[in-house]
Amino acid sequence: AIDSNFDQNRERAGEENGVAVWGPVEPPEKLGIHGTHVAVDYDICLADGACLENCPVDVFTWVDTPDHPVSEQKVEPTNEDQCIDCMLCVDICPVEAIDVDAS
Ligand code: SF4
Ligand code: F3S
Repeated sequence: AIDSNFDQNRERAGEENGVAVWGPVEPPEKLGIHGTHVAVDYDICLADGACLENCPVDVFTWVDTPDHPVSEQKVEPTNEDQCIDCMLCVDICPVEAIDVDAS
């Protein structure tokens, strides 16, 4: 599962598609955690899609991640500022790849 303390345990490595990326980032194998309020561990996400299909405010968009060992697509929390903290995505992800900081 994603480390919910990633913002303390990881270094901010940059930004992609308007969201922060928390390292280590060593493409194509290691892609880090994407987002801060809504965070997706790209090295755990297996492109199930339930988060994207069910988020009531369309926070997520697909991005291609060719040659990543787990899956060749991931979800970017592009609209994380729209999140209403419903926690649906956190509960529905089969591999617990998402953390939402509702505090
Ligand atoms: Fe969307 Fe709810 Fe997840 Fe926020 S917590 S990203 S509103 S599904
Ligand atoms: Fe990935 Fe989990 Fe969504 S596997 S696509 S973060 S439901």
